[in-house]
Amino acid sequence: MVTDAAFEIPEIEISTKVQEFLSRPKKCLINGNWVEAASGKSFSIYNPANGSIIDMAAEGDKEDIDAAVKAARKVFDDPKHPWNTMTPSERGKLIWKIGDLILENLDELAELESLDNGKPVGVAKVADVPLSADLFHYMAGWATKIEGNTIPISVPYAAGAKFHAFTMREPVGVVGQIIPWNFPLLMAAWKLGPVLATGNCVVLKPAEQTPLTALRLGEIIQEAGVPDGVVNIVTGMGETAGAALAAHDDVDKVAFTGSTEVGKMIVQAAAGNLKKVTLELGGKSPNIIFKDTENLEQTIASAASAIFFNHGQCCCAGSRLYVEKDIFDEVVDGVSAAADQIKIGPGLAGDTDMGPLVSSEQLNRVTGFMNAGQEAGATCVTGGRRLGENGYFVTPTVYKDTNDDMSIVREEIFGPVVVADPFDDIEQIIDRGNDTTYGLAAGIWTRDISKAHRTAARLRAGTVWINCYNIFDSALPFGGYKQSGWGREMGHEVLDLYTETKAVCLGL
Ligand code: NAI
Ligand code: MG
Repeated sequence: MVTDAAFEIPEIEISTKVQEFLSRPKKCLINGNWVEAASGKSFSIYNPANGSIIDMAAEGDKEDIDAAVKAARKVFDDPKHPWNTMTPSERGKLIWKIGDLILENLDELAELESLDNGKPVGVAKVADVPLSADLFHYMAGWATKIEGNTIPISVPYAAGAKFHAFTMREPVGVVGQIIPWNFPLLMAAWKLGPVLATGNCVVLKPAEQTPLTALRLGEIIQEAGVPDGVVNIVTGMGETAGAALAAHDDVDKVAFTGSTEVGKMIVQAAAGNLKKVTLELGGKSPNIIFKDTENLEQTIASAASAIFFNHGQCCCAGSRLYVEKDIFDEVVDGVSAAADQIKIGPGLAGDTDMGPLVSSEQLNRVTGFMNAGQEAGATCVTGGRRLGENGYFVTPTVYKDTNDDMSIVREEIFGPVVVADPFDDIEQIIDRGNDTTYGLAAGIWTRDISKAHRTAARLRAGTVWINCYNIFDSALPFGGYKQSGWGREMGHEVLDLYTETKAVCLGL
């Protein structure tokens, strides 16, 4: 792997507010109290821009998960607890308040996210933090709209009898949620919003790489007035704390976002008590550009951002770029030129377009794929390098001359690496688009409306973007076909996954 040792990283000052937050000990939130891990252990949190330690957090484990689950269970099982006697309207107002408080603390949260995850602070300010607030605001409105149906029933074996039958949507119970590091605050919001809207209690385990904004969110949730024990947060490792939560017999549902590999482990761990499981996993999304795309320049810019946004650390990244033959060279040159223009630097520097990858593990993973691409004989049009020696920076990278057996074409890289390939047959490209174990997202670029719809209908993916990419909204369900997951996040569809249906039948 070629590295550019001359790559210099400027020192950046941290605001007083963030310094204050960093100076407070990072503990677990259990039953409304911030507590050390039972073992007394803690783990280091790294600045991905230079590899230095920025903070320590309590290393929760099975015992702490146990305590958190007990706290959540105690609230859930007590019909007199304020959480359970609260009206849906009051619950909605609390959730709305969380959204408001996130916006009030936007700058601090964005800076913290940038420091912890490496993403540009400007992006966190316009995307991660406002989207997180919006998710709570959106979910606040649902708290008063969790409804069942009245159902006219016929009951053939009870001739002449009359019944009043209806369904109720009740909370699932104690929910375990395990989230990743690519959008730390937003993933916490996607998970906690629907949990609260539907009246559940929860134990959240943030990713060990990026626990800071989830802990700050814990403070905000307390400030909003959510009763103690409803939201518990245990920081710690996946293999210990995460695994204990997924396997816990007193957890009614586990919701996970992360790798497909761990998703499968979660399913197995959940088998003990058959807890409900929802999963949002990996992707290898095809982005298909037809030569009749409306505006080629814009399409190229979007194709670049489809893969390079968030340093490619997006489960729905447009990582397989398929371009109709006649415009292939122009698009590949354009995406590569866009890659070369990206200003790489620490997330906290105001002029940074792309920060470091999140961790040394991800750096090794992504550079490992780059090496594999090189060895397999793919042509590296641009990039393919690590930058500097301390931070976890890599260059945005474009490969062509690939074949469908190469690991860079088949596997989720989760870095700023795109493989581009030409096509000339629509049937063939739909089949190739679908030739993956994943099914999270896909992009289509054409001004031919019937071709767009025909292609969208045939692509086996949870989200299809036509003439746009990476458009997210709290109201739009998101999730995967095939090995990209089970269930959906956001929209009203997620609410079904946090409620049980109770059918009540009354003989009249
Ligand atoms: P991961 O799946 O190991 O981690 C995600 C979360 O799961 C973290 O909170 C982690 O602590 C937890 N976890 C890990 N092992 C666990 C276990 N045995 N039981 C319960 N929880 C566990 O992902 P990792 O290792 O950080 O990244 C590896 C790859 O996963 C990435 O390169 C990427 O391909 C994929 N990934 C996909 C994400 C998505 O949004 N779909 C997010 C993060 C990673
Ligand atoms: Mg892992």
